[in-house]
Amino acid sequence: MRTEISYAPIAGISTELLAVLAVDTQTAKGPDAKPQPTLLTTDAAVEAAAAGVLGTGEYKAGANETVLIHAPEGLKAKRLLIVGLGKLTKATVHGVREAAGTAVRFAKPRGIRELALALPSSEGLLDAMVPHAVVARAAVEGALVGDFDADTYRSERKDQSIQTLTVAAAADADRPATEAGVREGVIVGESQNFARSLVNEPGNKLTPTILGQRAALMAQEVGLGWDVYSTEMLHQLKMGAFWSVAQGSAEPPALIVLRYEPEGVTDGPVLGLVGKGITFDTGGISIKPSDNMEKMKYDMAGGAAMMGAMRAIALLKPRVRVIAIVCAAENMPSGTAQKPGDVQTAMPLAPDKPGKTIEIINTDAEGRLVLADGITYARQLGATHLIDAATLTAAISVALGKTTAGVFSNDDSTYAKFEAALAVSGERFWRLPLGEEYAELIKSEIGDIKNTGGRFGGASTAAEFLHTFAEDTPWIHLDIAGVAWVEESRPHIAKGPSGIAVRSILEWVRSY
Ligand code: BES
Ligand code: MN
Ligand code: ZN
Repeated sequence: MRTEISYAPIAGISTELLAVLAVDTQTAKGPDAKPQPTLLTTDAAVEAAAAGVLGTGEYKAGANETVLIHAPEGLKAKRLLIVGLGKLTKATVHGVREAAGTAVRFAKPRGIRELALALPSSEGLLDAMVPHAVVARAAVEGALVGDFDADTYRSERKDQSIQTLTVAAAADADRPATEAGVREGVIVGESQNFARSLVNEPGNKLTPTILGQRAALMAQEVGLGWDVYSTEMLHQLKMGAFWSVAQGSAEPPALIVLRYEPEGVTDGPVLGLVGKGITFDTGGISIKPSDNMEKMKYDMAGGAAMMGAMRAIALLKPRVRVIAIVCAAENMPSGTAQKPGDVQTAMPLAPDKPGKTIEIINTDAEGRLVLADGITYARQLGATHLIDAATLTAAISVALGKTTAGVFSNDDSTYAKFEAALAVSGERFWRLPLGEEYAELIKSEIGDIKNTGGRFGGASTAAEFLHTFAEDTPWIHLDIAGVAWVEESRPHIAKGPSGIAVRSILEWVRSY
């Protein structure tokens, strides 16, 4: 998708489809309070073209609600699409992001390859204080995210992607800021889609080795430092927890390291990003039921999120050092697989220190095992602050459902920065507790800790397991198991990989 910016009056834009946003400005409540759809444009010709349909009452400007007007009178555009943001009070920059995706997904199946999107001009109608550039960025992100479809292996696949998006800004908009916003939106949207394209790949097409190759290729393209190691390095580093998962598979593991070292930045924090990269999770000897097991190809979504974030970081160039570790392996049952009851020794923080011992209760709790060594490795490489992302537990979807992801942290000021990042990213995360009472549940009789803590509080015991390895290093854990896969297509996003966490991790990094 190419992006262009136009500062011309929107009535004069020649396009297949002009998308304009609307809100419901009705503030009264009660049975007589009819919706009042109001366009977020001051263009008189557009207002006139839409007046008829807006007057009928059939269109309410609900969130992502659309109405199409063919051959709108007085406009150069062939079609006028009105996209709702919902109630005025809910009309935020995140609503604009979704609405842009909705416009794109409206166009795609109708053979429309080019569209223009009018940025809302009436600032007062959006969250106060949001600069124009942020709105432009969000709109472009949403359009790119909306353009993604997961049907890559259909042999009769028709490419329906949008070729050109024209961002229509007001004539008096701050042009450098608008251009910067659009440029950022392209980088962020493409990076999120990069992560989604990895998550979408099936286990046979994306083994740990291939994920490592994809990481190396991306790193070369955007100028990141990189290393991809395998079995031998796991043994050298004494990554007994990571290896215990990898040992059951014929596919060798990949320990992926990506480095962003901006010139002239030699002190200050080093941010460590750690991602779970299980390219397929059968459960191992504690094998999963067959129903829905095919979904377990997305068990590397945390690792993909880190790769997507690193891509965006390399292109947006924040003034902070960042290192990403993706622990990629396949969790398989076999004659070489680990067994329940096995005791594994995790990587030691320093070569002369002992590693923590882990009693394996359930081989399906493998994510925390690979992350344990990934976290220790990031600390050994000098990370002063950590963030990990993982499709870690089914329990997180029991707690928060399929739309909100979980976040845990051992440090309130580090968490505060993440919360601030959410305001920019628009992603939904909810903080859940860590604590001694959860640590109690994963104490082992035979060793230091065990890898499951029973049925209750499963997301918190998993997080507390990771906390054992992060120790006092300020750390954030993202459990994205419930939201990494969109189960049903929505107006603004296709069914399939969501690309969750790329934007929030990026913003968190940029806040340093
Ligand atoms: N990859 C799964 C978690 C998962 C479940 C992700 C559903 C996405 C959708 C993880 O490795 C796992 O199997 N977790 C177990 C842990 C349990 C054995 C303690 C779980 O949540 O059931
Ligand atoms: Mn598992
Ligand atoms: Zn898993």
